[in-house]
Amino acid sequence: MTVIVKAGWACAFAAGVLGLAVLAGGAAESLADDVADYTVIDGNVDPNTREGYTVYSRACMACHGPDGLGSSFAPSLIQAAERRSFEEFAQTIAEGREIQPGQVMPSFADDLYVMSNLVNVWSYLKARADGGLGRGRPGIIEDMQEDEES
Ligand code: HEC
Repeated sequence: MTVIVKAGWACAFAAGVLGLAVLAGGAAESLADDVADYTVIDGNVDPNTREGYTVYSRACMACHGPDGLGSSFAPSLIQAAERRSFEEFAQTIAEGREIQPGQVMPSFADDLYVMSNLVNVWSYLKARADGGLGRGRPGIIEDMQEDEES
Protein backbone atom coordinates (compact mmCIF):
# COMPACT_ATOMS: atom_id res chain seq x y z
CA MET A 1 0.00 0.00 0.00
CA THR A 2 1.34 3.40 -0.97
CA VAL A 3 0.21 6.52 0.85
CA ILE A 4 1.43 9.89 -0.27
CA VAL A 5 0.10 13.02 1.37
CA LYS A 6 1.00 16.59 0.66
CA ALA A 7 -0.85 19.04 2.85
CA GLY A 8 -1.01 22.66 1.80
CA TRP A 9 -2.53 25.49 3.73
CA ALA A 10 -6.10 26.77 3.89
CA CYS A 11 -9.03 25.38 1.97
CA ALA A 12 -8.72 25.10 -1.76
CA PHE A 13 -11.25 27.75 -2.67
CA ALA A 14 -9.95 30.31 -0.19
CA ALA A 15 -6.40 29.70 -1.37
CA GLY A 16 -7.45 30.20 -4.98
CA VAL A 17 -9.18 33.46 -4.26
CA LEU A 18 -6.42 34.69 -2.00
CA GLY A 19 -3.85 33.76 -4.60
CA LEU A 20 -5.61 35.85 -7.20
CA ALA A 21 -6.03 38.75 -4.83
CA VAL A 22 -2.32 38.67 -4.11
CA LEU A 23 -1.47 38.41 -7.81
CA ALA A 24 -3.73 41.37 -8.53
CA GLY A 25 -1.86 43.31 -5.85
CA GLY A 26 1.43 42.60 -7.58
CA ALA A 27 2.90 40.85 -4.55
CA ALA A 28 2.91 37.32 -5.91
CA GLU A 29 6.31 36.50 -4.40
CA SER A 30 4.97 36.80 -0.89
CA LEU A 31 2.42 34.02 -1.28
CA ALA A 32 3.61 30.66 -0.03
CA ASP A 33 4.11 28.20 -2.88
CA ASP A 34 2.90 25.28 -0.89
CA VAL A 35 -0.77 25.31 -1.82
CA ALA A 36 -0.78 21.82 -3.30
CA ASP A 37 -2.88 19.60 -1.08
CA TYR A 38 -3.34 16.03 -2.16
CA THR A 39 -3.56 12.52 -0.82
CA VAL A 40 -2.75 9.52 -3.01
CA ILE A 41 -3.46 6.03 -1.69
CA ASP A 42 -2.97 3.13 -4.08
CA GLY A 43 -3.82 5.28 -7.08
CA ASN A 44 -6.92 6.81 -5.48
CA VAL A 45 -7.11 10.44 -4.38
CA ASP A 46 -9.01 12.83 -2.12
CA PRO A 47 -12.15 14.51 -3.56
CA ASN A 48 -10.48 17.89 -4.26
CA THR A 49 -7.68 16.31 -6.25
CA ARG A 50 -10.23 14.27 -8.20
CA GLU A 51 -12.14 17.53 -8.86
CA GLY A 52 -8.85 18.91 -10.20
CA TYR A 53 -8.65 15.96 -12.59
CA THR A 54 -12.23 16.64 -13.75
CA VAL A 55 -11.63 20.36 -14.29
CA TYR A 56 -8.38 19.62 -16.12
CA SER A 57 -10.14 17.11 -18.37
CA ARG A 58 -12.95 19.53 -19.22
CA ALA A 59 -11.01 22.77 -19.63
CA CYS A 60 -7.38 21.95 -20.40
CA MET A 61 -7.06 18.48 -21.88
CA ALA A 62 -8.14 19.45 -25.39
CA CYS A 63 -4.87 21.38 -25.77
CA HIS A 64 -2.58 20.00 -23.06
CA GLY A 65 -3.25 16.34 -23.77
CA PRO A 66 -4.67 13.53 -21.63
CA ASP A 67 -3.48 13.29 -18.01
CA GLY A 68 -1.37 16.46 -18.23
CA LEU A 69 1.14 14.92 -20.60
CA GLY A 70 1.22 17.67 -23.22
CA SER A 71 0.51 17.57 -26.96
CA SER A 72 2.09 18.79 -30.16
CA PHE A 73 0.21 22.05 -29.55
CA ALA A 74 0.67 22.77 -25.82
CA PRO A 75 3.31 21.85 -23.23
CA SER A 76 3.13 19.16 -20.54
CA LEU A 77 1.59 20.60 -17.39
CA ILE A 78 3.22 17.90 -15.30
CA GLN A 79 6.58 19.38 -16.23
CA ALA A 80 5.15 22.86 -15.62
CA ALA A 81 4.09 21.73 -12.13
CA GLU A 82 7.65 20.58 -11.46
CA ARG A 83 9.26 23.79 -12.67
CA ARG A 84 6.83 26.56 -11.83
CA SER A 85 5.46 28.05 -8.66
CA PHE A 86 1.73 28.12 -8.04
CA GLU A 87 1.83 31.89 -8.59
CA GLU A 88 3.29 31.51 -12.07
CA PHE A 89 0.77 28.79 -12.84
CA ALA A 90 -2.18 30.89 -11.62
CA GLN A 91 -0.95 33.96 -13.44
CA THR A 92 -0.60 32.11 -16.74
CA ILE A 93 -4.16 30.81 -16.48
CA ALA A 94 -5.59 34.18 -15.47
CA GLU A 95 -3.74 36.20 -18.10
CA GLY A 96 -3.12 33.69 -20.88
CA ARG A 97 0.22 33.52 -22.70
CA GLU A 98 1.71 33.43 -26.16
CA ILE A 99 5.45 32.93 -26.17
CA GLN A 100 5.63 30.88 -29.35
CA PRO A 101 3.76 32.84 -32.03
CA GLY A 102 0.45 31.19 -32.92
CA GLN A 103 0.45 28.89 -29.87
CA VAL A 104 -2.06 30.65 -27.69
CA MET A 105 -2.84 29.84 -24.10
CA PRO A 106 -6.22 31.55 -23.57
CA SER A 107 -7.05 33.64 -20.50
CA PHE A 108 -9.49 31.96 -18.12
CA ALA A 109 -10.02 35.12 -16.03
CA ASP A 110 -13.75 35.13 -16.82
CA ASP A 111 -14.20 31.40 -16.27
CA LEU A 112 -15.34 31.03 -12.67
CA TYR A 113 -15.40 27.23 -12.90
CA VAL A 114 -11.70 27.16 -13.74
CA MET A 115 -10.61 30.07 -11.55
CA SER A 116 -12.35 28.72 -8.43
CA ASN A 117 -10.71 25.33 -9.00
CA LEU A 118 -7.12 26.48 -9.60
CA VAL A 119 -5.77 24.93 -6.42
CA ASN A 120 -7.54 21.65 -7.20
CA VAL A 121 -6.05 21.54 -10.71
CA TRP A 122 -2.64 22.39 -9.24
CA SER A 123 -3.01 19.64 -6.62
CA TYR A 124 -3.90 17.15 -9.35
CA LEU A 125 -0.88 18.16 -11.45
CA LYS A 126 1.40 18.05 -8.41
CA ALA A 127 0.05 14.60 -7.54
CA ARG A 128 0.94 13.56 -11.09
CA ALA A 129 4.35 15.28 -10.93
CA ASP A 130 5.59 14.20 -7.51
CA GLY A 131 2.82 12.26 -5.79
CA GLY A 132 3.19 9.11 -7.83
CA LEU A 133 -0.31 9.38 -9.33
CA GLY A 134 -0.58 7.53 -12.63
CA ARG A 135 -2.56 8.14 -15.76
CA GLY A 136 -6.34 7.95 -16.13
CA ARG A 137 -9.27 8.99 -13.98
CA PRO A 138 -8.38 8.41 -10.33
CA GLY A 139 -10.89 6.90 -7.95
CA ILE A 140 -11.73 8.56 -4.66
CA ILE A 141 -10.22 7.15 -1.46
CA GLU A 142 -12.93 5.09 0.23
CA ASP A 143 -12.96 6.92 3.58
CA MET A 144 -13.32 10.25 1.81
CA GLN A 145 -16.16 9.28 -0.51
CA GLU A 146 -18.94 11.00 1.43
CA ASP A 147 -17.40 14.34 0.40
CA GLU A 148 -18.02 13.59 -3.24
CA GLU A 149 -20.79 15.54 -4.94
CA SER A 150 -23.52 14.07 -7.15
C1 HEC B 1 -6.76 26.47 -26.62
C2 HEC B 1 -5.70 25.61 -26.14
C3 HEC B 1 -5.40 25.66 -24.64
C4 HEC B 1 -6.24 25.43 -23.60
C5 HEC B 1 -7.74 25.12 -23.63
C6 HEC B 1 -5.44 25.54 -22.40
N1 HEC B 1 -4.15 25.83 -22.71
FE1 HEC B 1 -2.61 26.14 -21.42
N2 HEC B 1 -1.36 26.56 -22.95
C7 HEC B 1 -1.68 26.46 -24.29
C8 HEC B 1 -0.50 26.78 -25.09
C9 HEC B 1 -0.43 26.77 -26.60
C10 HEC B 1 0.54 27.07 -24.19
C11 HEC B 1 1.96 27.50 -24.51
C12 HEC B 1 1.91 29.01 -24.66
C13 HEC B 1 3.25 29.61 -24.96
O1 HEC B 1 4.13 28.97 -25.50
O2 HEC B 1 3.40 30.76 -24.60
C14 HEC B 1 -0.02 26.92 -22.86
C15 HEC B 1 0.67 27.14 -21.68
C16 HEC B 1 0.19 26.87 -20.42
C17 HEC B 1 0.96 26.98 -19.19
C18 HEC B 1 2.41 27.40 -19.08
C19 HEC B 1 3.24 26.15 -19.08
C20 HEC B 1 4.65 26.39 -18.62
O3 HEC B 1 5.52 25.58 -18.96
O4 HEC B 1 4.88 27.37 -17.92
C21 HEC B 1 0.13 26.63 -18.17
C22 HEC B 1 0.48 26.58 -16.69
C23 HEC B 1 -1.14 26.28 -18.76
N3 HEC B 1 -1.07 26.44 -20.10
C24 HEC B 1 -2.21 25.82 -18.03
C25 HEC B 1 -3.47 25.54 -18.57
C26 HEC B 1 -4.59 25.08 -17.79
C27 HEC B 1 -4.56 24.77 -16.30
C28 HEC B 1 -5.65 24.96 -18.65
C29 HEC B 1 -7.07 24.58 -18.32
C30 HEC B 1 -7.72 25.37 -17.29
C31 HEC B 1 -5.17 25.33 -19.98
N4 HEC B 1 -3.84 25.66 -19.88
C32 HEC B 1 -5.94 25.33 -21.13
C33 HEC B 1 -2.91 26.13 -24.81
C34 HEC B 1 -4.07 25.90 -24.09
